[in-house]
Amino acid sequence: MENAITLSKLRKVFRSGAVRVSSVLALEGLDLEVRSGEVFGLLGPNGSGKSTTIKICLDLVRPTSGECLVFGGKTSRPESRQRIGYVPEAPFFYGYLSGETLVQSMGRFSGLSGSALKKRTGDVLETVGLVGAEKRPIRTYSKGMLQRLGLAQALVHDPDLIILDEPTAGVDPIGARQITEMIRLLKSQGKTVLLCSHLLSQVESVCDRVAILHRGRMLAEGTLESLLKSTGHKPSLLFDSTEEQQKMRTMAEKAGVHVEEGADTALSLEEVFVKLVRENEKENAA
Ligand SMILES: Nc1ncnc2c1ncn2[C@@H]1O[C@H](COP(=O)(O)OP(=O)(O)OP(=O)(O)O)[C@@H](O)[C@H]1O
Ligand SMILES: [Mg+2]
Repeated sequence: MENAITLSKLRKVFRSGAVRVSSVLALEGLDLEVRSGEVFGLLGPNGSGKSTTIKICLDLVRPTSGECLVFGGKTSRPESRQRIGYVPEAPFFYGYLSGETLVQSMGRFSGLSGSALKKRTGDVLETVGLVGAEKRPIRTYSKGMLQRLGLAQALVHDPDLIILDEPTAGVDPIGARQITEMIRLLKSQGKTVLLCSHLLSQVESVCDRVAILHRGRMLAEGTLESLLKSTGHKPSLLFDSTEEQQKMRTMAEKAGVHVEEGADTALSLEEVFVKLVRENEKENAA
């Protein structure tokens, strides 16, 4: 099956200023594949290039060099973009519109009309749990409701690929769990989800594969299992050296304490993330 997203040698340099030109290297030769039907987590510290990658997939930002394909087609083609639903990291909606009007408008922009538009609007508002609030002006919505509205407008045209840029930012734990459930539902419907999130417990519970970016480069990529395994284990007790460990063991045994080899615990995704980023920072500083 063709990939939902294929990025090859993607590079992006932002340039600003007419007289004093300053440039920021946002992506440096990024290769990435998101397979159809998977939930893919794109992780990285602030400023590592996640949103830039997403914007290139949506043709909102043009890469300096390299290629981005969505379902095998160039993102500059409207047919490719039509298959994407997008929830931006900081969505802005006109406050005087009702949630229903907004979702309907987005559906209309995507080519829906008449009874199909009406049905689809009702369905997605129900899916995200906004029924009852759909006639209210958006300015009266809470942060969590705005996030759900963001999801509804992204789903109205029944896209095959849903890109979520930090959908849980500012959402309470119950709202975050609902978003996780919604991602599971989308996956069960055969959709592909690209999820950018700093909520690593959510990523760990829902993603099939993840990539960790740092300073526009790929630090690690793979299934959660392979990433957690390959990055190492934390021993159940930490010592500065093996001699120190042996000394403690001898002392304990002399005191009549039975010492048993403890099973090492695999690192959590958060620990893997921090470890890889810190190691990369040290390498860059050296
Ligand atoms: N329009 C722009 N003009 C200039 N620099 C930009 C622009 N957009 C992004 N950048 C820079 O590109 C780099 C990557 O930014 P990006 O928004 O992709 O990071 P991110 O990984 O999404 O971070 P966050 O977790 O904070 O959302 C940063 O150094 C940022 O300042
Ligand atoms: Mg971002």
